[in-house]
Amino acid sequence: MNLEFVKREQLKEKPQDETKLGFGKVFSDYMLMLRYDEAKGGWYEAKIEPFQNLSLSPASLVFHYAQECFEGMKAYKTADGEVMMFRPWDNIHRMNVSAERLCMAPIPEEFFLNAIYELIKVEKDWIPTTPGTSLYIRPTYIGIDPFVGVRAASQYMLYVILSPVGAYYASGLAPVSIYVESQYVRAVKGGTGYTKCGGNYAASLKAGEEAHQRGYSQVLWLDGRENKYIEEVGAMNIMFKINGEILTPELNGSILAGITRDSIIKLARKMGYTVTERRISMQEVADAAKNGTLEEVWGTGTAAVVSPVGELIWNGESIKVGDGGMGKLTEELYNTLTGIQYGRIADDMGWTIKL
Ligand code: PLP
Ligand code: COI
Repeated sequence: MNLEFVKREQLKEKPQDETKLGFGKVFSDYMLMLRYDEAKGGWYEAKIEPFQNLSLSPASLVFHYAQECFEGMKAYKTADGEVMMFRPWDNIHRMNVSAERLCMAPIPEEFFLNAIYELIKVEKDWIPTTPGTSLYIRPTYIGIDPFVGVRAASQYMLYVILSPVGAYYASGLAPVSIYVESQYVRAVKGGTGYTKCGGNYAASLKAGEEAHQRGYSQVLWLDGRENKYIEEVGAMNIMFKINGEILTPELNGSILAGITRDSIIKLARKMGYTVTERRISMQEVADAAKNGTLEEVWGTGTAAVVSPVGELIWNGESIKVGDGGMGKLTEELYNTLTGIQYGRIADDMGWTIKL
């Protein structure tokens, strides 16, 4: 399969003020589009083409039964204008893990990854340079057969759109307050919790809205069986520093195996910390806060990067973390990770690629 390039007549105007980008509102000039049709022998077309609306049958399977998954990664500009990506091969591999769970055709990982590199090279002027900004990359995969019976699709679109972004949370790097959800659940073992499928996010909206109404920016999910054990936050994994040790929920099948999570675990171990992945109950965290050993809490994610948590609200009780500010280790991990991503710190982990 060749990668074709379809030029657009006129380029869009780029955002004037990069400090006002926010998250995911502006899109670049081009998108990548791959098409699959079982009847045509599989993947049959790949194009970098103008960013444009899709034309799909209202009967398309994705609209009815949500056969969809996506990914989130970023391209960064270094101080000397080079373009970097962070572990993109892991995102593409994870997309295939999601696709497998959703009975979608396997993605040709190497071809897709190289096509994404080409797209980023074409769109490199869309990568913002103001500190804390980057170009968010959103691969999206949908089943499109015009058919309303329930089955896996035989025709697919796999596309990638790009959006220059600033901080994911409106509060920037200020610690967020998180509502611990005790009524709704996001995922259960055996379900799709470990995938990045749109359905997981649809199922989480109601709890998110109710948390917002109560004045909290995010929801912390507990396990779907006992409502006791900590899972993850809406768009990030979560970590605790308790009595000098770093704890994070183990990958149990119902949470996303975050690439930032994995990176932070490895960086913290390199810094000499003990990092334990295990089941953590909310009671354990509440007890640690009571006896003064809950030192820091932070979330990890591509969009959220390393995000300090200042307070957890659980069953009407406020659990304060440290002094409510950004913890020392949280800040150090943020600086180390973004240092590697923006090329300020040498990458001896083999995580980055210069395009
Ligand atoms: N958990 C959920 C539900 C997410 O949406 C994300 C964001 O991608 C993460 C965790 C963090 O994953 P990653 O670090 O790979 O971005
Ligand atoms: C990401 O961090 O890439 C996410 O997917 C978060 C979110 C916008 C769903």
